[in-house]
Amino acid sequence: MKEVDTAATYLREHLPFAPDLALVLGSGLGGLAQEIEDAVVIPYREVPGFPISTAPGHAGQFVAGRLGGKNVLCMQGRFHYYEGHEMSAIALPVRVFKALGCTALVLTNAAGGVNWDFNVGDFMLITDHINFMGANPLRGANDDSIGPRFCDMTHVYAPELQEVALKVAAEQNLVLQKGVYLGYMGPSFETPAEIRAFRTLGADAVGMSTVPEAIAASHCGLPVLGLSLITNMAAGMAGKRLSGDEVIEIANQRGAVFQQLVRGIVEAM
Ligand code: 6GU
Repeated sequence: MKEVDTAATYLREHLPFAPDLALVLGSGLGGLAQEIEDAVVIPYREVPGFPISTAPGHAGQFVAGRLGGKNVLCMQGRFHYYEGHEMSAIALPVRVFKALGCTALVLTNAAGGVNWDFNVGDFMLITDHINFMGANPLRGANDDSIGPRFCDMTHVYAPELQEVALKVAAEQNLVLQKGVYLGYMGPSFETPAEIRAFRTLGADAVGMSTVPEAIAASHCGLPVLGLSLITNMAAGMAGKRLSGDEVIEIANQRGAVFQQLVRGIVEAM
């Protein structure tokens, strides 16, 4: 695919190394990028064919360098469907990671808790997802050089990587909840009735990202580790209104611990 090749070529020329791992840092979780050693920063706007990210709490740049003994390529800020980006634009960076030789993709996000057993500030290992975004990044002509027309979705969230995450969380004495992430288009939050429906459908957390990237990763054969920070309980669960500011505030509060977990996982991968 021409867009993938063009962007991958640009990054290859501007990166100090071939990355082992790619990470996508969600809302308010971009602080991990500051821990990257010998960091090289590349704003998305400098990468040919890349869209501009507009979401609050998102910096809009690649940060490449050493983290946990690995060469990582990090997205500090991602593209969301609710911003108006095409699904193909959201899939593009994932395909570029694959083209650059990354062997795994870590997707992080801030999410609303749907499972009554969860608490604000909890971390959740994504074991599977429900695509409720009303769109799929693989729609349209298929590039057979990237992946198959009909893409198996049985093990999107690689079982081996889940094992690593659970082991590291236990070593760090952190509770790591497990659950199903439901991707919602947004940008409005859900209604309480939708949240009750989603719980019945098997969702444990709800958010506005991650699902498109995970589908694109599955398509091109890139194993995914998904981690959510529960920044708030979803609509109708906490007896108060939801706000984007609260999401960022809790993400900032729990950011340091979340970063320690992600760094430990990267080290152990
Ligand atoms: Cl409650 N819903 C969605 N869709 N995204 C969120 C959220 C809720 N909380 C944080 N992100």
